[in-house]
Amino acid sequence: MNEPLLVLTEPVRSAAEYLARGGGQGLAAAITRAPAQVAAEVRRSGLRGRGGSGFPTGEKWESVRARPSRTRYLVCNAAEGEPATFKDRWIIRRNPYQVLEGIAIAAYAIGATKVYIAIKEASTKEIEALRRAMTEMTDMPAQVPVELTAGPDDYLFGDEKATVEVIEGREALPRILPPYQVGLFARSGRPNPTVVNNVETLANVPLILRRGADWFRESGTLGSPGGMVFTVCGDVRRPGMYELPLGLSLDALVHLVGGGPREGRKIKAVVPGASAGLLPPERFGTPLDFDMMRAAGSALGSGGFAVYDDTACMVAVTLGFARFLADESCGQCPACKHGCTAIADGLDRIERGIGGQDDLRTVLTRCDTVTGGRRCALPVGAELLVRSAIETFREEFEAHLGRPCPRPRCLPFPLIADFGDGRFSYQTREVAA
Ligand SMILES: Cc1cc2nc3c(=O)[nH]c(=O)nc-3n(C[C@H](O)[C@H](O)[C@H](O)COP(=O)(O)O)c2cc1C
Ligand code: SF4
Repeated sequence: MNEPLLVLTEPVRSAAEYLARGGGQGLAAAITRAPAQVAAEVRRSGLRGRGGSGFPTGEKWESVRARPSRTRYLVCNAAEGEPATFKDRWIIRRNPYQVLEGIAIAAYAIGATKVYIAIKEASTKEIEALRRAMTEMTDMPAQVPVELTAGPDDYLFGDEKATVEVIEGREALPRILPPYQVGLFARSGRPNPTVVNNVETLANVPLILRRGADWFRESGTLGSPGGMVFTVCGDVRRPGMYELPLGLSLDALVHLVGGGPREGRKIKAVVPGASAGLLPPERFGTPLDFDMMRAAGSALGSGGFAVYDDTACMVAVTLGFARFLADESCGQCPACKHGCTAIADGLDRIERGIGGQDDLRTVLTRCDTVTGGRRCALPVGAELLVRSAIETFREEFEAHLGRPCPRPRCLPFPLIADFGDGRFSYQTREVAA
């Protein structure tokens, strides 16, 4: 992959420009084949979901196709809310046409009768871009109706079990069964199996159909083919959005691409959003690959990374993420809501210099139980991130017991609101360190 393919150097300004740049050829190639062949081509490409879990996209489509049902739906998950991540909004702003082409191909492959795009009401620029592109692309072949659902700012809106609830007009409370089993508007005897795919996943699909699965596999790794749009924010010289082949090391992303730390500083840790363990410098050699990141005790997730240098207090960093998860936990599962809150409260006491060994023990004990009976993966992030932070920076946590921070610094919580002129702006959740 020599050229950026999703986030083009220049944003695409119209459908005509998109077509002139080769857009539409993926859909044209798709509809010359049977839907099952399209799903098989995507499976062969090895494309894995870019929304967090890295689930193989072709397999997901084939499993929904295999479920007997007269009605199937597709949901494009544009409800991006993972901390340290901005890539879906970036892709939509720059090239909404490719997302819509990917949607049309996916809908054709799974036999969807209707498509919903789930997006936060606050994402006004992206909603405008999508609406404009939808109006311009009404001539596209194999069209199925596409409806845009603008939803709440909740982190859980992005969890597919809650996404479908919001589309049905309810709150962002995850349901019990996943949408491929109990889909949109399901009733007894009518499961309406539903595929939920991330924006970036769908934006890759036209390229796979246009250039072939083998071409897609030429970049990336054996287990994680293709490229990814990475978000690099925090203590680096060049924070930004970067589309690169998978398999590149985290070290190269942070130091070469992101420019490394500022003069005289060293990178201390990288936090891959709120859903996995953090990575200390000893693991920066890990390739950006779904399986290898997991083997290193972390996750590739949605490709967003918050970088912290040696001036950052890791207790304050960990508290920021823990409080975010406690606030966003919906409370349907007691172990999650009470556990996330207890973890955040314990860390808060430690961070303020009034906590003791008991608090540290309580935080770790709650990490053991916070995921009990969970309906969704939110508390898994609390467990993995907090435990990895304490294990990696044990001395720093211990030094905080009964003492305020020796080097307080205001750390904005990296919940990204916007990106422009080489800078991220964050939603106003501040943690005083
Ligand atoms: C708390 C939580 C938040 C999530 N947020 C998002 C999100 O903002 N966007 C997204 O695509 N997936 C998000 N996911 C993952 C989705 O549930 C789902 O796995 C994904 O949309 C599937 O698409 P993919 O297979 O193309 O990755 C989230 C999951 C959880 C548990
Ligand atoms: S695990 Fe937590 S966030 Fe997920 S549904 Fe249960 S209470 Fe809500």
